[in-house]
Amino acid sequence: MSAPLKAAVIGVGAMGRHHARVYTEIAQTELVGVADASADAGGAIAAKYGVSAYTDYETLLAETQPDLVTVAVPTRDHHDVVARVLDAGVDVLVEKPIAATVAEGEALIARAEALGRKLMVGHIVRFSPVIQALKAHLEAGELGKLFQIVCRRVGPFPARVRDVGVVVDLAPHDLDLMRFITGDEPVRLFAETEQRIHTAHEDLVNALLRFANGATGVLDINWLTPQKVRTVTVLGERGMFVADDLTQDLYFYENAEANGLTWGHLSMLKGVSEGRMTRYPIPRYEPLRAELEAFADAVLNDTPVPVSGADGLAALRLALALVESGKTHQVLEV
Ligand SMILES: NC(=O)c1ccc[n+]([C@@H]2O[C@H](COP(=O)([O-])OP(=O)(O)OC[C@H]3O[C@@H](n4cnc5c(N)ncnc54)[C@H](O)[C@@H]3O)[C@@H](O)[C@H]2O)c1
Repeated sequence: MSAPLKAAVIGVGAMGRHHARVYTEIAQTELVGVADASADAGGAIAAKYGVSAYTDYETLLAETQPDLVTVAVPTRDHHDVVARVLDAGVDVLVEKPIAATVAEGEALIARAEALGRKLMVGHIVRFSPVIQALKAHLEAGELGKLFQIVCRRVGPFPARVRDVGVVVDLAPHDLDLMRFITGDEPVRLFAETEQRIHTAHEDLVNALLRFANGATGVLDINWLTPQKVRTVTVLGERGMFVADDLTQDLYFYENAEANGLTWGHLSMLKGVSEGRMTRYPIPRYEPLRAELEAFADAVLNDTPVPVSGADGLAALRLALALVESGKTHQVLEV
């Protein structure tokens, strides 16, 4: 039996080729075609999966009539391509960030709404097994009140990124992660940015954030470090979680002073001392597969997508505020 949904991918470069592969792997979809401005890039992926390649995505839409599409062209083109796909009556998953500017992101959200189409943003980190596990432990109340979240995303420069700096390219991952993990919104931020080696844009950012419920956030992101690091540390009343998104390890360092205290008594907490360390088993699965299954399920069942255009816009808005703060040296209320 053929899969219920016809899927296509526009832009099959470093990221889009994985979307194409996963659409051939999951039960909900069959891949019906790919489009890429480069005939070589599109042709190679299409040949691999036995589908047609198009250099013009409008022709792909007209000829294959997909039910859903991934748009994974460079960020500066997200708006124009996604708008045309929505106009064709197709549900879209656009790679992060939603667009290059807030106005473009807003326009896409309004367009999807007016046309009654789904618009999901590919904030893949949410679908990482270790991040899902961390979220579940926090929702179970294991940390108590959340004090601080620290995200590190450092490593070498990916030479293909030319159109945006490290803040717009990478910080949306962590800004979305912070919103997802805390269930809270930043209200104030400050960033120091630097352009040291690589691009026409900044390649390093250190930022501080304050959340509405009082937690503080710290971002350490760059394209300058000769070691790839992807960690999230969440500190709270009962201790500290450390999640490593590369090794998929999740640790909890207990505050021994909170051990045995029930909810009502946490306010009596008098101090912090080292307690037990727990390493949690994490299931192994591909985050992109979980992301595309969730997208396909939302299309199949006509339910809301798990990462909305509004989520994507919030992450972009915050990322651009970091760029502005880095340029003006001002603390911004957001
Ligand atoms: N979620 C993640 O972790 C993640 C990782 C990497 C990239 N991305 C995002 O994916 C997007 C693509 O990044 P990439 O690294 O794959 O870039 P890339 O340059 O490797 O691939 C982009 C592809 O799009 C094609 N293209 C460009 N304009 C086109 C158009 N108008 N029509 C059809 N094809 C076109 C190019 O020929 C190229 O093959 C970016 O928005 C980026 O932010 C997300």
